[in-house]
Amino acid sequence: MGGPAAPPFSARHRVSMLPVAVSSRELHMPLSETVSIVVLTGAGISAESGLSTFRGAGGLWEGHRIEEVATPEAFARNPGLVHQFYNLRRRQLLDPAIRPNAAHRALARLEWRWGGEFLLVTQNVDDLHERAGSRRLVHMHGELAKIRCTFCGDVRAWAEELSVATSCPACGRSGGLRPHIVWFGEMPMEMERIEEALAGCDLFVAIGTSAQVYPAAGFVEMVRGRARTVELNLEPSAASHLFDERWHGPATEVVPAFVAGLLGEDVER
Ligand SMILES: NC(=O)c1ccc[n+]([C@@H]2O[C@H](COP(=O)([O-])OP(=O)(O)OC[C@H]3O[C@@H](n4cnc5c(N)ncnc54)[C@H](O)[C@@H]3O)[C@@H](O)[C@H]2O)c1
Ligand SMILES: [Zn+2]
Repeated sequence: MGGPAAPPFSARHRVSMLPVAVSSRELHMPLSETVSIVVLTGAGISAESGLSTFRGAGGLWEGHRIEEVATPEAFARNPGLVHQFYNLRRRQLLDPAIRPNAAHRALARLEWRWGGEFLLVTQNVDDLHERAGSRRLVHMHGELAKIRCTFCGDVRAWAEELSVATSCPACGRSGGLRPHIVWFGEMPMEMERIEEALAGCDLFVAIGTSAQVYPAAGFVEMVRGRARTVELNLEPSAASHLFDERWHGPATEVVPAFVAGLLGEDVER
């Protein structure tokens, strides 16, 4: 049909999900218009760091159904299995090969360079955001690298194995320590701080989350119509249609490009 051959599908796809056709000028939002940013992240932002996502592999998390390892009932029924599961996740996080990626670093840069209000709300229990430099951060589903005593309430950093026999360093009793993780059926952490930030935000960005786990999946509806809403995900999530803008591609490509656009910078590679 004449003219140059169309590029292969993968190449076109790549261009369309990267901001090559969109100049950073168009993406730049002046500080005067955006005062407050809330970013929500999920397991997808850590996937390229080597941590598997939750639903990706057929609804299993590292080979387990959530009812087996991520509910208070599971812990009551089989604390040994639950401890073993989180011990493995914690050990994996200590592996030197698991490091923050370009998407984590881009969000830390956004927080430090941004002049206005900022809150990063993560559903992730890994510590890759803080290792990348993020500080205004809420772990709404808890943290793998911490434990909590159900007897005295003590919360502390923990890098060791945990078992029903481990005694609490604060109160000395054993049998009450658990991962500092929010299990299904439990209340997320710091919801007041999150809701306050959502109530005042004018840019809401959801990254690497399948929008299947509530209340996080409902945040976009809380801000819609008032804030600019952006989804950055490998593929359309269950809530894609609720966002003003959707950028689909790997987090390590899409997030640095989006942040660079906001800050009016060149993309970090
Ligand atoms: N790293 C972690 O801390 C971790 C890992 C697994 C599960 N979890 C827990 O399980 C729950 C899972 O819910 P969720 O919505 O966070 O995750 P999810 O696993 O349900 O969804 C992950 C989303 O990320 C997308 N994704 C996959 N790879 C990506 C990439 N390279 N770039 C961009 N996006 C990518 C997927 O398409 C999917 O929509 C959370 O509550 C979390 O606490 C945490
Ligand atoms: Zn205690």
